[in-house]
Amino acid sequence: MAKKYNVAILGATGMVGKEMLKVLEETDFPVAKLLPLASSRTAGSTVIFKGEEYKVELAQPESFEGIDIGLFSAGASISEKFAPEAVKRGVVVIDNTSFFRMDPNVPLVVPEVNPHALKNHKGIIANPNCSTAQMVVVLKPIHDRYRIKRIVVSTYQSVSGWGKEAVDELIEQTKAYVEGKPIEVKVLPKQILFNVIPQIDSFLETGYTKEEMKMVNETKKIMEDNSIAVTATTVRVPVFIGHSEAVNIETEKPVDIDEVRQILSNAPGVKVMDDPQNKIYPTALDCVGINDTFVGRIRKDISVPSGIDLWIVSDNLRKGAATNAVQIAQEMIKQELL
Ligand SMILES: NC(=O)c1ccc[n+]([C@@H]2O[C@H](COP(=O)([O-])OP(=O)(O)OC[C@H]3O[C@@H](n4cnc5c(N)ncnc54)[C@H](OP(=O)(O)O)[C@@H]3O)[C@@H](O)[C@H]2O)c1
Repeated sequence: MAKKYNVAILGATGMVGKEMLKVLEETDFPVAKLLPLASSRTAGSTVIFKGEEYKVELAQPESFEGIDIGLFSAGASISEKFAPEAVKRGVVVIDNTSFFRMDPNVPLVVPEVNPHALKNHKGIIANPNCSTAQMVVVLKPIHDRYRIKRIVVSTYQSVSGWGKEAVDELIEQTKAYVEGKPIEVKVLPKQILFNVIPQIDSFLETGYTKEEMKMVNETKKIMEDNSIAVTATTVRVPVFIGHSEAVNIETEKPVDIDEVRQILSNAPGVKVMDDPQNKIYPTALDCVGINDTFVGRIRKDISVPSGIDLWIVSDNLRKGAATNAVQIAQEMIKQELL
């Protein structure tokens, strides 16, 4: 009989945690015991998995006794506190937060791109930032064929990328507008309703935000190539789910756009939607609840000898978080690392 695993979800009541439950169920992941964990705010509430109710427990170090896999998505400081406790108890932690991503001892993995990195794990595997995961899935096969020299990316990121409080904020601002009441700003830096905010996370002295530098550094780590130049502008838009990205790349070898389309059509985890004359290109609404990453508007950049413009869209709670985490666990089982 195939082995089954005891799985704890830390942050089970959050946007990512709830999506993890769905992905585990949809993929029929071999779960023996499921343990949903959260803070004292929601401990005692229930979540549904495969039609059954599971009581959410308060996360404590002892919660991880007897657990095989910990899917963590409760924030960086919570992972900092609980991941070592879980690892001490023999748990393999797949962490969605930013805390361990750039640690040289922690593999940062997108299974379609660098599955081999998993074998070096020491108990913790990091899941990349949502915007990075969807971008590298599309860029890796292009890099393998043409060698990417430089990436310029601008993102259009949904509010669910900032968690359930930001989703509630867009709902509340919409209601307030319809009811003619004053619009309150509580979680995001400015009003998000009818607006576009060029700030995700806090600013650094360089003028970049932390989110932008996550895209720069994580892309190089996952693609295992520090020579790729990356610059990013990350922007919040009033969309509930789905991050979109305008990506411009310059390549070393001359590109053939038909071949690029062909390469992407065969790339794992990628769906090409590219017939703009017939309004076929991906939008955020097209990707909700889907594990794949969509790419369209594929065209030769007319401003450089060899470059490509692309429009990349994915469900940030799926490939950007829950799907990638579950795929890491599946890949570890395949490689007999679990
Ligand atoms: N949203 C995305 O697209 C995305 C993508 C990639 C990575 N991530 C990362 O995943 C993490 C969670 O994101 P999210 O969007 O799911 O946030 P969220 O909707 O705000 O949910 C946060 C979760 O963490 C739990 N939590 C908070 N403090 C806790 C504590 N002290 N002890 C135990 N559990 C605690 C919350 O439990 P309560 O309900 O009890 O408060 C909730 O289950 C973040 O680090 C984020 O950066 C998010």
